[in-house]
Amino acid sequence: MKSLLILTLLLFARLLSFSQEAAQLYQTHCASCHGNQCQGGSAQSLVDDIWQFGGPPEHIDWNTKKGLPHLGMPAFGDTLTDPQIRQITTYLRGPAKKERTVAAPLLKMLHTLDYKINVEVWAKGLEIPWSLAFIDQNTALVTERAGRLRVIENGRLHSKPVAETPTVLAEGQGGLLAVAFAPDYAAEDNQWVYLAYSHGLKIQPNGKRAPAMTKVVRGRIHGNQWVDEEILFESPHESYRTTRQHYGTRIVFDAKGDLYFSIGDRGTGAHAQDLSKPNGKIHRIRRDGSIPRHNPFRRNKTALPSIFSYGNRNPQGLAFHPDTDQLWSTEHGPKGGDELNLIQSGLNYGWPIITYGKNYNGTPITDLVRRKGMEQPVFYWTPSAAVCGIDFYHGELFPKWNNKLLVGSLKYEDVRLLHLENNRVIHEEIILQKAGRVRDVVCGPDGAIYVVLNDPGTILRLSPAKEK
Ligand code: HEC
Repeated sequence: MKSLLILTLLLFARLLSFSQEAAQLYQTHCASCHGNQCQGGSAQSLVDDIWQFGGPPEHIDWNTKKGLPHLGMPAFGDTLTDPQIRQITTYLRGPAKKERTVAAPLLKMLHTLDYKINVEVWAKGLEIPWSLAFIDQNTALVTERAGRLRVIENGRLHSKPVAETPTVLAEGQGGLLAVAFAPDYAAEDNQWVYLAYSHGLKIQPNGKRAPAMTKVVRGRIHGNQWVDEEILFESPHESYRTTRQHYGTRIVFDAKGDLYFSIGDRGTGAHAQDLSKPNGKIHRIRRDGSIPRHNPFRRNKTALPSIFSYGNRNPQGLAFHPDTDQLWSTEHGPKGGDELNLIQSGLNYGWPIITYGKNYNGTPITDLVRRKGMEQPVFYWTPSAAVCGIDFYHGELFPKWNNKLLVGSLKYEDVRLLHLENNRVIHEEIILQKAGRVRDVVCGPDGAIYVVLNDPGTILRLSPAKEK
């Protein structure tokens, strides 16, 4: 009996040290690129369940052993033994993946240059929430990348997602991405909800992966059901790509009510310069999907008429300045060279001909950072912060921040506040740190700032702290 107990204890200790050993191996060989908590650094997260090259253990083993030299992932076959590699893989799929929760110290007061801020968890238990939009003071919609549209009413998350929303291709960086409303949502005959998502074609008969592209639709919600759907943008199916990254995908409206949306380069940089392709662009359509008369490439026979700007790598943030009605975008760079751009009709933002970034393995993409006929970013981040959702602050709770730009960072897990003057960034302040991967930042109708986090899937609400 006693020996059985000792045996069990020994086994337990062995298992424990096995996992500690794996954590140690990870820290020594992988953390510098994939982050201390496997959450991503200069290379991607290894705990978000997104595997470009396959999630089964033998695929992870293979990629670790052989590397992906063209992407900057070194081969570990000479440094680590097969059992060691398997140990790391087991660790990545188990202990390392355990859901992180919002760090307790964060929920205390934050001190910024202008305000003391109160942070509260506004919604939780979401799976990779991607975009948040308020219908009115009390009601918001949030997308979950896996393909669910959720309603939050008076700060309470409805347990049932909206039924019968479009089927999305939730693989890699794709899925149900953007949700938005036109400014006059409340008007009679309106009540349209706009969605953009990764649309996959049927799996090919030859076993190839389903090609996919960003698609935009609108519909209404009646009795928690998606109805009246209309397709607003679906690019020619020849343009669909079997890659699973760089979908871009945000939706915003200008003061006239025209709709703008972004599509990333889908992993093929050269397409960003090709006006016959939808990827690597920002598009403008009317809200019924028709093409506005003043679209810059409307008369160009080889161009897609919805294109508004091109040479955009992967724009995951779009916002209109509340006073000037100018369109701003944030774009993910490769290694370095994330950009903030002022988007204007018909202009070329240069990707991949000019960039401040490098390939993931450190080799240059191009020697050029500027060229005639191509726009310079207003601001760029090197190293890349993986800048994501943005919004201009316009509310009553933080009056000193009006017209300043809130920028979320996936990689550094923070929210930055950019002070713009004459279209230049004259100051940047980090107002929230180490929260979780920031996917979207929204100034709510109540003037509070809502921060949409991935890992953990939470929405935080920031409001001014009451002085005692
Ligand atoms: C020098 C930086 C670097 C180091 C060190 C590194 N990696 Fe990577 N890894 C990358 C890059 C770059 C990629 C390519 C994808 C990306 O991040 O965009 C990648 C991709 C991967 C992938 C493929 C992911 C997928 O989506 O299929 C796996 C698995 C992986 N790494 C595991 C590891 C493990 C395990 C270690 C440690 C033994 C490690 N890496 C160390 C840079 C690195």
